[in-house]
Amino acid sequence: MAFAYRGGTLCAEQVALEDLARRFGTPCYVYSRAAIEGAYREFTDELSGRASLVCYSVKANSNLAVLSVLARLGAGFDIVSGGELARVIAAGGDPAKVVFSGVGKAEAEIRAALQAGVLSLNLESEQELERVNAIAAALGKRAPVAFRVNPDVDAKTHPYISTGLKQNKFGVAWPEAERLYRKAAALPNIRITGVGCHIGSLMLDSAPFVAATRRIVSLVERLEQAGIALDHIDLGGGMGIRYHDEASATIAAFVHGALDALGRRKETVLLDPGRAIVGNAGVLLTRVEYLKPGEAKNFLIVDAAMNDLIRPALYDAWHEVRPLREVESGAARGVYDIVGPVCESSDWLARDRLLAPRQGDFLAIMSAGAYAMVMSSNYNSRPRAAEIMVSGARAHLVRRRETPAGLFEGEQVPEWT
Ligand code: LLP
Repeated sequence: MAFAYRGGTLCAEQVALEDLARRFGTPCYVYSRAAIEGAYREFTDELSGRASLVCYSVKANSNLAVLSVLARLGAGFDIVSGGELARVIAAGGDPAKVVFSGVGKAEAEIRAALQAGVLSLNLESEQELERVNAIAAALGKRAPVAFRVNPDVDAKTHPYISTGLKQNKFGVAWPEAERLYRKAAALPNIRITGVGCHIGSLMLDSAPFVAATRRIVSLVERLEQAGIALDHIDLGGGMGIRYHDEASATIAAFVHGALDALGRRKETVLLDPGRAIVGNAGVLLTRVEYLKPGEAKNFLIVDAAMNDLIRPALYDAWHEVRPLREVESGAARGVYDIVGPVCESSDWLARDRLLAPRQGDFLAIMSAGAYAMVMSSNYNSRPRAAEIMVSGARAHLVRRRETPAGLFEGEQVPEWT
């Protein structure tokens, strides 16, 4: 366990989180290098003996230090923007192991990806195919492409993060896929590399993932009969993690289920997990500013807010809250809603939690390694928090806290007349 109490104090690996909160200030995110490496290795271990590549989904946490830890282990990367490509390259990632997904790739992004030499552009529409062919022609290249196919399988997750149903904007429609592959095969500046799919995030059950794999295999077989051979099958990410006490399928269950469904197919298997690699490898540290007992609710007002962690406001998400110092058994407890300073009633981080807080105490919001800092904002002119990576007994500041003046650096007041 990367985050555990030692001698009554919550630690990240061998470092006491309270020391980090005092040294770097709060709110701040703390990541465990060992936890990131451990989760990545779970995937590669389960895939051993099979031609495969784990492409970490950069959107989950794009800090350069996180990307560098994974690049050093040989990971590939799943990206959705030119910005993410630039980050992967800056962190020492290999562009030849990058898959580029996303419904709205701009011309400049496509050009940058082709120039960097990515493994595959995962196309999501017919017009995108035409645009990629034209840009590749202008560059004198053949673009490596896969279609991201929407298999119309219900991932059984929150509707905002479900992507594999026909009413979702993602992927090319299932009935269209074969025609698009034939069209791509006839274009001079296109080289077909594979097929992709991603049906949703935070899947707790592996069954929909396996069902989507079966559908993709049936498409690959049809393409083979049509004389279209693929190098890889990209099954996407979406493997769930445990935030609370929910029963989430293990990484092994997802990987084995998919491998069984792939049967004897020889194509390289690509997986693009994000949350399953970093989600439980990070926490958000915060300090209690005020206790505010009330008639209907008791509020614990902390210095982190929805701008630091928007998942509760956006998805009603549950994040465990732990005190950095273990509470003594006799301490008086109360039930609190943990809220931030932002001027919105949706600014809550956790509800109805039994805690024994005092003003000035530090708390850890758990499972904040994925979709936390990357979704943060400057709402209410709140500088974004610092990020720290722990490795063994050492702690590294991997992104400094923003400053109030830095927030308006790019702004200008006109010369009023
Ligand atoms: N591949 C593709 C094409 C994706 O769109 C995504 C996530 C992933 C891989 C990685 O999914 P993961 O393994 O992390 O579940 N903000 C939401 C999650 C949005 C996921 C978007 N796509 C949240 O906080 O729950």
